[in-house]
Amino acid sequence: PVLVVDFGAQYSQLIARRVREARIYSEVIAHDAALEEFLAKDPAAIILSGGPSSVYAEDAPALDPQLLEQGIPVFGICYGFQKMTDALGGTVANTGGREFGRTMLEVTGDGGVLHHGLTQTQPVWMSHNDAVQEAPAGFTVTASTPGAPVAAFESVQRRMAGVQYHPEVMHTPHGQEVLTRFLYEIAGLKPTWTAANIAESLIADIKAQVGDDGLAICGLSGGVDSAVAAALVQRAIGDRLTCVFVDHGLLRAGEREQVQTDFVAATGARLVTVDAEETFLTELAGVSDPETKRKIIGREFIRSFEGAVSEVLGDKAESGQKVDFLVQGTLYPDVVESGGGAGTANIKSHHNVGGLPEDLEFELVEPLRLLFKDEVRAVGRELGLPEEIVARQPFPGPGLGIRIVGDITKERLDLLRKADLIAREELSAAGLDGQIWQCPVVLLADVRSVGVQGDSRTYGHPIVLRPVSSEDAMTADWTRIPYEVLATISTRITNEVPDVNRVVLDVTSKPPGTIEWE
Ligand code: XMP
Repeated sequence: PVLVVDFGAQYSQLIARRVREARIYSEVIAHDAALEEFLAKDPAAIILSGGPSSVYAEDAPALDPQLLEQGIPVFGICYGFQKMTDALGGTVANTGGREFGRTMLEVTGDGGVLHHGLTQTQPVWMSHNDAVQEAPAGFTVTASTPGAPVAAFESVQRRMAGVQYHPEVMHTPHGQEVLTRFLYEIAGLKPTWTAANIAESLIADIKAQVGDDGLAICGLSGGVDSAVAAALVQRAIGDRLTCVFVDHGLLRAGEREQVQTDFVAATGARLVTVDAEETFLTELAGVSDPETKRKIIGREFIRSFEGAVSEVLGDKAESGQKVDFLVQGTLYPDVVESGGGAGTANIKSHHNVGGLPEDLEFELVEPLRLLFKDEVRAVGRELGLPEEIVARQPFPGPGLGIRIVGDITKERLDLLRKADLIAREELSAAGLDGQIWQCPVVLLADVRSVGVQGDSRTYGHPIVLRPVSSEDAMTADWTRIPYEVLATISTRITNEVPDVNRVVLDVTSKPPGTIEWE
């Protein structure tokens, strides 16, 4: 892999993702990992990420200088750029030229490999106090900014380069191009990380883990992650996988059919569906506190799942077999956030399908634990999953239960399902799916508003549209949806959904608002 050395900035995951966008496999590694650990991963290149500190600060995160002497191609970014300058004998100093945000970069000379042919001046995203004053011997300086006399340097011969700015962020328009040039032209790497190759290697890994007669079980949520994880395992071990789908009645229109019909048709997976709507609604009756709702839904989910698993286990037990493996759709950002690039999984109850039954012991199969969401989608397409599943927006485990502000009833759920379907239909028809990360549709059941419909006064409820754009749901901005599309959605919802006489738009970013309302 290309190893992204994490110096504690929030950018290292993003860098790994950009490297993978260049179709080269990349992983994040902590800066204090031992040299042997680095070398054991047989890195094709090393990228030193940005970091919060000054290289001369006492607590500055260290870099083992030996790492730069292994003949491995190296690319330094921001703090990493300064760190490599320092280690290779250049100078870094604080001369008061700090720069934050959009800055104009001036290409010098022919721009070298990284910057040749790009416009002479171009905007880049900066965030630094110190600056490189002198490049290490043997390196060519190829760009500068007002506050950074050396904003980029490279040595093709040593296969090393670096930039003071952040090429990984969107605010640096040429960033991806520069990073890709480093990978292809300086490090000499080939773009081999394709969906087909990823799928093939994941299937081989699953076969190796589960063995020739291991049995596995997988909870399907209807979401893309669990669907792709299950599809991969199905390819690897066929009918030795059983999928369990709990219909808790808090799903959106069409989701059950997507799993029961489309997913099964595309994969041939063996599926057990648990009908639990009644139980869930009974347990949730009269509850309006969000955290209490979440707890009840989580608890009931485990019960239902456990019930189904015991049944499957029961069948197998009679034939003397045991289910040893539980498939989970854990993604790379979760793995990085829980601090484990390798080793045992740290399961966040927030993200998995309701949590693990405590008294059942499974070994986890997590085929997606090294993938980002867009890669999961690409693999899903490669495996032939239908677009409705692969392109599906993220949907929270507690479902529509946390999109009704107030207590949950069947009537309210039906009403919300109608409004949600209208919003989805119109956003898709307007071609906005690519721009929207997800669009929660929320029913303010505890709020009433006065309206006039068909010449008479109504006293109904508002529906909130919450379209957001995001890369990973950690931060988000509200999506600027064209007014005409909003108008169509509003008209349709107030016309077609009983009891709703008002549609409002949520224009809050995250932070301060979360994506969901509860
Ligand atoms: P928030 O509302 O925290 O949501 O900004 C971030 C992302 O997580 C989803 N979400 C959940 N997913 N179980 C889940 O599996 C949950 O309890 C849960 N709560 C929020 C949310 O839809 C968004 O994508």
